[in-house]
Amino acid sequence: MIREVDARKLPDGFIEIFSSCIGRPGDASEIVGLYEEPGWRLFAIFEEREIVAVAGLKLDSPSEHELVHLAVKKERRSKGLGKKIIDILTGAFRLSDLFVWTDDEAVGFYKSIGFRIIQEETTLHGIKRYKLARYGMYFSGGYCNHVDTIFDET
Ligand SMILES: CC(C)(COP(=O)(O)OP(=O)(O)OC[C@H]1O[C@@H](n2cnc3c(N)ncnc32)[C@H](O)[C@@H]1OP(=O)(O)O)[C@@H](O)C(=O)NCCC(=O)NCCS
Repeated sequence: MIREVDARKLPDGFIEIFSSCIGRPGDASEIVGLYEEPGWRLFAIFEEREIVAVAGLKLDSPSEHELVHLAVKKERRSKGLGKKIIDILTGAFRLSDLFVWTDDEAVGFYKSIGFRIIQEETTLHGIKRYKLARYGMYFSGGYCNHVDTIFDET
């Protein structure tokens, strides 16, 4: 089950998994604060009441929807969950195009599920960053802000 969560009232176990998809895990609580802004939507994926993955979307620009965060609990990786979460969110919000910034660790994941690199950068610390896009994933129904916040599809 995917459930939208309130950044000010995070469920148990959320921050631990969220920390695994950011450069400085110690900054996780501060970064989660971004999701108090309009258009920033945070999700937790539950299996038998336990959080097994988290995801965050930025939907404030009608033309550029971004998957800002995605992390699957270590023991649950490589079982198709990451792909499934993207597919569910894409369908629920009718995201015909979706963008993501990532690094060498996860770029292969996004490429394997249909994203392609559209921009590359190297940070001041020498870390490669990639911007990827997946176009035409769903019908172009435009920006949809009226979806249920609980999706029982996982
Ligand atoms: C990246 C991540 C979200 C992928 O989730 P996952 O549930 O393990 O991925 P899936 O099982 O859905 O994999 C889907 C496909 O991508 C491939 N894949 C998964 N991780 C990969 C990686 N790091 N590199 C290359 N390919 C990868 C899988 O082999 C699978 O391919 P297949 O369909 O041909 O078998 C997960 O590994 C994770 O949480 N990593 C740590 C946090 C992170 O890096 N997040 C992304 C930051 S933007």
